[in-house]
Amino acid sequence: MNHRHESSDEKNASSRAPFSSPQAMNAVINDILAELTRLRGIDFSGYRPGTLRRRLANRMAKVNLSDPNAYLQKLHTDSSEADRLIDVLGVNVTRFFRDPLVFETLAHTVIPELIERKKRQGTKEVRVWSAGCASGDEAYSIAILLSHALRKDPPDWGVHIFASDINNRALQQASQGRYSREHLRETKLGVLEDYFIPVGNEYEVAPSIRRLVHFCKDDLTCPQTRVPAESIFGTFDLVFCRNLLIYFDPNLQVRVLEKLFHSLGSYGHLVLGPSETLPTALSSGLVVVDKDNRIWRKAQ
Ligand SMILES: C[S@@+](CC[C@H](N)C(=O)[O-])C[C@H]1O[C@@H](n2cnc3c(N)ncnc32)[C@H](O)[C@@H]1O
Repeated sequence: MNHRHESSDEKNASSRAPFSSPQAMNAVINDILAELTRLRGIDFSGYRPGTLRRRLANRMAKVNLSDPNAYLQKLHTDSSEADRLIDVLGVNVTRFFRDPLVFETLAHTVIPELIERKKRQGTKEVRVWSAGCASGDEAYSIAILLSHALRKDPPDWGVHIFASDINNRALQQASQGRYSREHLRETKLGVLEDYFIPVGNEYEVAPSIRRLVHFCKDDLTCPQTRVPAESIFGTFDLVFCRNLLIYFDPNLQVRVLEKLFHSLGSYGHLVLGPSETLPTALSSGLVVVDKDNRIWRKAQ
């Protein structure tokens, strides 16, 4: 997996990284991560060290601190700093219909096939998981596609989209469902008119779409859980985990992908981000549906 997501800001921050030696740097980073786990119960230790270093240096520069120990002290004393650091380490950048070709493929191939299969099976329930949903744009995008695909069917389908993240502030924005134009720059005009309500300079997701999505806190790296607690009663037809695995080290990627794999029902689809792929250990259980758009389907 490559690292196209690192911004030049972060690269610049790394060149002024305020650590005296690699050993000193690792020790303080470990202390900072341990403090974050103590304060918020989130364990970033499986994230790529280079990314952690760059992002931490960036955050320290933002708060005008050059001594990592002084930053650790700030984490102890400033109760909002832990959340700010989670924002920075977790990278909660997202937008509606991010990588439009992926959503076109879902709309024209994956979703129609899914609905036909459900009809053949005599079930009218669709279950989706957007893992690492940030401010909810991805979850609402898929809700819009499903809603559009089912618009001519009787309204007795149960569409349940579970959208999870570790970031409380992002989840709060997601639940509000209100976005700036920037989040919607890849959204077609017709979709904007049909599924959003303009509110001042922003756009609010229509209630018919919002009621399909359930936001919840869930840490994908947690070894004790398999799926968000709210969603345990069933497997998923579609699982999204996009632009998140790239920040994990290879071992953690495999562990999380195994979790996602086991959460899929038969013929369930897995959608990853453009720089993300499956390790060989898991590729035998999944069939490639669209290599370029990173879509796989459970073999059975
Ligand atoms: C770059 S955003 C991706 C958002 C969306 N999937 C997309 O592709 O546009 C990554 C999100 O993953 C979340 N995240 C990071 N670590 C996580 C973890 N261990 N469990 C769940 N979510 C996590 C971050 O808080 C952030 O909101």
